[in-house]
Amino acid sequence: MSEQSSSKDVSAEASSSDASNAAPSQEPVIKVRDLENRFGDHVVHESLDLDLLDGEILGVVGGSGTGKSVLLRSIVGLKRPNAGTIDVLGTNLNELSEKERSQIERRFGVLFQQGALFSSLNLQENVALPLIEHAKLAREDAEHLARVKLSLVGLEPEAALQYPESLSGGMIKRAALARALALDPDILFLDEPTAGLDPIGAAAFDQLLVTLRDALGFSVFLVTHDLDTLYAACDRVAVLSQKRVLVVDTLQNVAETDDEWIQNYFHGPRGRAAEQSSSSSTAQPKE
Ligand SMILES: Nc1ncnc2c1ncn2[C@@H]1O[C@H](COP(=O)(O)OP(=O)(O)OP(=O)(O)O)[C@@H](O)[C@H]1O
Ligand SMILES: [Mg+2]
Repeated sequence: MSEQSSSKDVSAEASSSDASNAAPSQEPVIKVRDLENRFGDHVVHESLDLDLLDGEILGVVGGSGTGKSVLLRSIVGLKRPNAGTIDVLGTNLNELSEKERSQIERRFGVLFQQGALFSSLNLQENVALPLIEHAKLAREDAEHLARVKLSLVGLEPEAALQYPESLSGGMIKRAALARALALDPDILFLDEPTAGLDPIGAAAFDQLLVTLRDALGFSVFLVTHDLDTLYAACDRVAVLSQKRVLVVDTLQNVAETDDEWIQNYFHGPRGRAAEQSSSSSTAQPKE
């Protein structure tokens, strides 16, 4: 963990990522320590430590089944850890009452790996739902705000009245992002947001995420398999392996780690392609 302060500001000149121009402070908004998660005898996490820094986009990678989604679910309160602590915004979640916990959880926006939207609701109803249920807004106000959120993620006004089944995968991901942003979260959790999108749709989503983070200042816990996303959007990368976070650092430093999975992942054919396409795309510095 101590290397987290190896500032990405300093390493920015060596970086091909246009995301590294944002300058998150080094204050963690989430601090996971000594986390253990298991299902019966099956230990998924053991002695897992991880920080999410204020304002950063942290990419969380690892082989299938290494526990990325379980980690996300235990931070957002859907899976109670078997041991360890999770501090969110300076508060240990274990020490909170249900009510206090749900207040903290309202500061989260979540886009799950499975089941993005309710199929029986149109997009504006989907996005309005958390505003009605949690923020207690009147339906008309909630739907008005929902339309604002839908335009924020780049959807045309006509999309507001459409149902998920009539939309492309990319539009559904954007609408799910709008719903995750409904309550103006401080921390956004995204589980494989670009899975199933074509490369152009995925790249547009990555860019949208960086733009919104720069504009709104939230922190992002981003589970992904998508190497292009790591290059395009992430300030740091955490690798889950052997039940814990094996390494968390800038993409360049992680890619140099002496570990078989990491070497195959970053330096196999897809890793090389992602690196090449990121260095050939024009980075746009944002201050
Ligand atoms: N509710 C559950 N009950 C029992 N086992 C579970 C449950 N949820 C997850 N697991 C197990 O925990 C392990 C980690 O699962 P998880 O879904 O976090 O993997 P992942 O890293 O997100 O994988 P993927 O990249 O395929 O999404 C897996 O072995 C999975 O079978
Ligand atoms: Mg998963």
